[in-house]
Amino acid sequence: MTKRVYIETYGCQMNVADSELMFGVLLREGYVRTGTPEDADVMLVNTCAVRDNAEQRVIGRVGELQRHKRAGDVLGVVGCMAQRLGPALLARVPRVDLVVGPDAYRNLPELIGFACGGQRLSDTDFRSWEHYEDVPAVREKGPTAFATVQRGCDYRCTFCIVPKTRGPERSRKQEDVVREVIGLVEQGTTEVTLLGQTVNSYDDGQHDFADLLRAVGAIDGLERIRFTSPYPTDFTPRVIEAMATTPAVCEHVHLPVQSGSNAVLKRMLRRYTREQYLAVVAQLRQAIPGITFSTDIIVGFPGETDDQFAETLSLVNEADFDEAYTFKYSVREGTPAVRLPNHVADEVASARLDQLINAVRANVRRKNFARIGEAHEVLVERPARRGNLMLARTRGNQLVLLELPPTSLGEYHAVRLTGTTGSTFTGAVVQRFAELRAGPQLVVVL
Ligand code: 5AD
Repeated sequence: MTKRVYIETYGCQMNVADSELMFGVLLREGYVRTGTPEDADVMLVNTCAVRDNAEQRVIGRVGELQRHKRAGDVLGVVGCMAQRLGPALLARVPRVDLVVGPDAYRNLPELIGFACGGQRLSDTDFRSWEHYEDVPAVREKGPTAFATVQRGCDYRCTFCIVPKTRGPERSRKQEDVVREVIGLVEQGTTEVTLLGQTVNSYDDGQHDFADLLRAVGAIDGLERIRFTSPYPTDFTPRVIEAMATTPAVCEHVHLPVQSGSNAVLKRMLRRYTREQYLAVVAQLRQAIPGITFSTDIIVGFPGETDDQFAETLSLVNEADFDEAYTFKYSVREGTPAVRLPNHVADEVASARLDQLINAVRANVRRKNFARIGEAHEVLVERPARRGNLMLARTRGNQLVLLELPPTSLGEYHAVRLTGTTGSTFTGAVVQRFAELRAGPQLVVVL
């Protein structure tokens, strides 16, 4: 009998891409996909381990999903939390049958088979060769797609569990990435996001990230390239040059800074100072006019003093971020930071987080209000949640709500930004993309 599989995904874009690979592994074995847990024979929860609250949410959700479990059904926890906890998760959550780490998805059909036979088992071995190269990822059809170019992480940021959950860094061969993206373009994708934990340290033995950007940028029909997440010191002059001279590379970089204090950065084992980070931002701004920046910031890292936190606050304005994702430090068993002295009290960290969120919001608001009236090229990505509007994205990563029919999905338009909530925009279409490209060049101020 055909088995129906349901996958629920938490965490980062790489988890989204990994779920697409899991569907690939299972659908080629005859499984069919279902969007609802109620009628699934196999339920998998693809998890994140980066902060404790992400894990708590999963535990809660697994509790809900097990209500849909009928005799013979399989409930699995996969991904980074599965890797971190391993068989201990089986002991902790009695109705979980399977615990599978990010390097073991190839074995899912076999593991599910055993689980159907009543076994409870885990596979959390690292397989540093694993790229799922032969697995056809099953994606939602649409104009945008993820392509994993690097798995694992060799950096040792002291707060981060990822090296423990995703194993050593390895890059896919450039030719394999290019082949995959060509296939995506043939199916209608025009924007690809290249994924890796420190994506700009990409190195397949013969090509670096600059080569990869140029090679992907040369693919006919691909309009936009994004990538996430880069590491500040891996923006070599070669990479910056490749970004600046490859037209498809979008003018936006998500560049996690984590802290504005050199003392904290050192304890985090980040490989740069505040000054070096700002220098990278300045080089990118110089080379790529109009580039925008988003970042990740942690507050309340062990030993963080009021003064050190104040340096993070001042960095938000100095770097002039267009967006920032802010987090309260979360202790991760198995990371070096656990053993650092002077852990920050939770109330202190919470107060700092509030302050930081306000600082970020104020800066983003100011920048976004100043953008009203600008014209931008947008890609229509999906229907908006409210009303008959469509959600589109500028090259600089701003979201724009547009009055367009659902058939506009995947279209490129020139739009004028007409208003903003402070974070997202409303816009009006000025020109269709075909006319846009036929003209001499994109007019930026109308
Ligand atoms: N606590 C809080 N935030 C963390 N991140 C990673 N590890 C932790 C942790 N232990 C944040 C970092 C990273 C983002 C994906 O999650 O800012 O860039």
